[in-house]
Amino acid sequence: MKYMGSKSRIKTDILKILQKLIDDNNIKTYIEPFCGGCNVIDEIKCDNRIANDNNEFLIEMLKKLTEDVNLINEDIFNEVPKELYDECRNRFNNYNFDEEYPKWYIGAIGFLASYNGRFYDGGYAKTVISKTGKVRNYYQEAKNNLINQLPKLVGIKWYNGDYTIFNDVTDALIYCDPPYENTKQYGTSKNFNHDKFWEWIKKMSKNNIVVVSSEIAPNDFKCIWEQEIIRTQDNRQRFKSIERMFMYEE
Ligand SMILES: C[S@@+](CC[C@H](N)C(=O)[O-])C[C@H]1O[C@@H](n2cnc3c(N)ncnc32)[C@H](O)[C@@H]1O
Repeated sequence: MKYMGSKSRIKTDILKILQKLIDDNNIKTYIEPFCGGCNVIDEIKCDNRIANDNNEFLIEMLKKLTEDVNLINEDIFNEVPKELYDECRNRFNNYNFDEEYPKWYIGAIGFLASYNGRFYDGGYAKTVISKTGKVRNYYQEAKNNLINQLPKLVGIKWYNGDYTIFNDVTDALIYCDPPYENTKQYGTSKNFNHDKFWEWIKKMSKNNIVVVSSEIAPNDFKCIWEQEIIRTQDNRQRFKSIERMFMYEE
């Protein structure tokens, strides 16, 4: 699924590392406390897969669409005119839901019809003709992307809360992909406390295998993988950054 901060470009490397840890350590439970667009967990093979995010619209949407993977092919998803997008965005902003516009639907329209999957933050993703004359219908592209992904998400247990809901978990592989420091913030979770997060990782690493995606980490964390990538921010600005994966070393 197209998602702000998605790991899809580097997922092959991430998956190799995580899947080896699961297989080598006979791990039965895999948890992603910051699942976002589920672009890593969708390919993980483990007896129990658990996904959480504190964006309730995202989790409501994923729960609903994986309960019935044909729902996304129904008429309500045929196209999203600007008026429908605006109606859903207003309802999101005013926290106003009913039977006709339930939370999961407001979530789906927000993720599929917002520019770059940015959930009512990137503006309406209208159809455009590119410089080379190619017609790009961003909504249909996002929808097709999700249609292909949904069968791989069936069977996941969904949670909606802060990452600390997993405080008591043991013997699991926990993969964390939190909001990065100094990057654009998620509208639904501003002011993420990074110090508190790293302390939590230390605590959870005592009884679990914990791996974190981040650019930087405190000194007592070991970098187990890194790769340079080019990032785009605010549609135009491009800059180099280094993606890394860390584990805690006592
Ligand atoms: C970098 S994205 C995850 C992207 C995902 N790995 C992918 O490939 O699509 C980070 C996610 O963390 C979520 N988030 C932010 N603060 C959170 C918190 N305190 N607890 C749980 N989730 C949180 C955001 O809503 C966002 O979906």
